[in-house]
Amino acid sequence: MPDCTFYTTAIDYTNAAPHIGHAYEKVLTDVLTRFERLRARPVFFLTGVDQHGQKVQQSAEKEGLSPQEFADRCTVQFIELWKKLGIHYDGWAATTHPIHKRVVQKILQRLHDEGQLYKQAHRGFYSVRQEQFLTDKERNEAGEFGPEWGQVVELEEENWYFKLSKHRDWLLNHIDTHDRFVIPAFRKSELRNAVEKLSGDLCISRPKSRLNWGIELPFDTEYVTYVWFDALINYISFAGYFSEGGENLPRFESLWPAAAHVIGKDILIPAHGIYWTIMLHGMGFPDLQIPSFLVHGWWNIGGAKISKSLGNTVDPNVLVERYGAAALRYYLMADIVTGKDSDFSEERLRGRYNDELANNVGNLLNRTLNMSARYKGSVLRNIAVDHELLHSLAVTEFPQAVAAYFAAMGDYQVDAALRAVIGLARFCNQVIESIAPWKLAKDTAQSDLLDAVLYHLAESIRVVAILLEPVLPDAARGIFRQLQINSEPQLADAVWGVLLDGHILGAPTPLFPRLEAPAEVG
Ligand code: ME8
Ligand code: MG
Repeated sequence: MPDCTFYTTAIDYTNAAPHIGHAYEKVLTDVLTRFERLRARPVFFLTGVDQHGQKVQQSAEKEGLSPQEFADRCTVQFIELWKKLGIHYDGWAATTHPIHKRVVQKILQRLHDEGQLYKQAHRGFYSVRQEQFLTDKERNEAGEFGPEWGQVVELEEENWYFKLSKHRDWLLNHIDTHDRFVIPAFRKSELRNAVEKLSGDLCISRPKSRLNWGIELPFDTEYVTYVWFDALINYISFAGYFSEGGENLPRFESLWPAAAHVIGKDILIPAHGIYWTIMLHGMGFPDLQIPSFLVHGWWNIGGAKISKSLGNTVDPNVLVERYGAAALRYYLMADIVTGKDSDFSEERLRGRYNDELANNVGNLLNRTLNMSARYKGSVLRNIAVDHELLHSLAVTEFPQAVAAYFAAMGDYQVDAALRAVIGLARFCNQVIESIAPWKLAKDTAQSDLLDAVLYHLAESIRVVAILLEPVLPDAARGIFRQLQINSEPQLADAVWGVLLDGHILGAPTPLFPRLEAPAEVG
């Protein structure tokens, strides 16, 4: 068993600029890994870029660049965006890296030597424009290949195949006997249906005559490796599999199997759920070393799929510039249910941030620090008083919110976890409204109760900050600074009563300035 939780994301194609779908997957995985760090557990986060394949070769040609130059240029866009968004990854998988090429070739050679690969001629219909073989799936209702395929010719081509279909029954059994293989569960039944229909093997080569931007087959140099076969291997090549040492890679045994490959719904079937899973099985990984898939849904725009051709992509860089990284991270985590789709809306981004962070958490912090400064010289007193509302905050609302948060995070339901935290902050604001500390301040007989109110609020804010940390790491530290807590946020401290009697709070500075709609242009 690994001693480190290992999360990966899909590696992004370097044939176009990143969009909010890419950003979402990276933020989600960043949040899951930060949650592990927050509870002091070892974790390793691998992400990267998928640089080979036809799309890159074609895009490069159009721009008069070499495929490597083109892929490198796109790669920089991803790296710069992850930096802006505070994505803290431990490993970077770039599939043109020599470490990766070596591992892919070693795996291919071994599968070849074991007789798991074979070469065969295939006769079929080929779209010259799309540079791919067409199957019956590509035929339109009239049974023809539509004009979108351009000229279609019948041709014969020899290629290498991986014996996939002989593992069909093994895979069905694996699906049936491993509850957490695919999360959420409804995706698992989709996968099962697809596997039942599985027939035929996986073509893993492309002749160099039509595609040369790939990893050469070690045993047949007229061919390069099919991009998915190459790309999927990143999960192990950058985790130290077949490592020769001295490459500054993690120790494979400490990571594998991955706790989750975090991927979008479009690449579960067939790429991960069928190809990758069977590749691992074919390579000799025992069932206990088959990873799990956390399959997230899609961000759509105006109900439609994000696509370059529809021109409806939203540039995450523009959103970061307009609203800041914290607002975008918060929105992407709060406004989608993990596994389901959601519709992206800038108005909702602003609305949720203003309502849940600015007016709720920010306001709570601000009021509490102000009242403490004004009425008590910022000195916290932990005095026991008998007060029903304070009692229910400390012994009911608070532990329930923490428990709900842990349950949700354990289930990858970040939106539900955030709801629990935001709910706790709202309860605190209601406590302020109903107790009205400004009235207590006018009556010296109520001095102890006023101390107790402020202590309860400060304790709650402290824990709200800890629980927000995976999504809002900077804001959490900002709250800690204002509370004058010198330690780092950690989940072990998400319990009641950590602030000491006599603790001195800091001065309030606005953490979540309200977001405004951008001025209309033109
Ligand atoms: O599929 N909403 O790369 P990719 C949410 N290179 N997620 C989305 C999305 C959207 N609108 N659009 C895409 C590839 N994604 C391959 C992966 S892994 C060995 C190779 C997700 O750049 C998508 O589901 O097209 C995938 O998980 C990731 O972004 C990269 O997509
Ligand atoms: Mg895609």
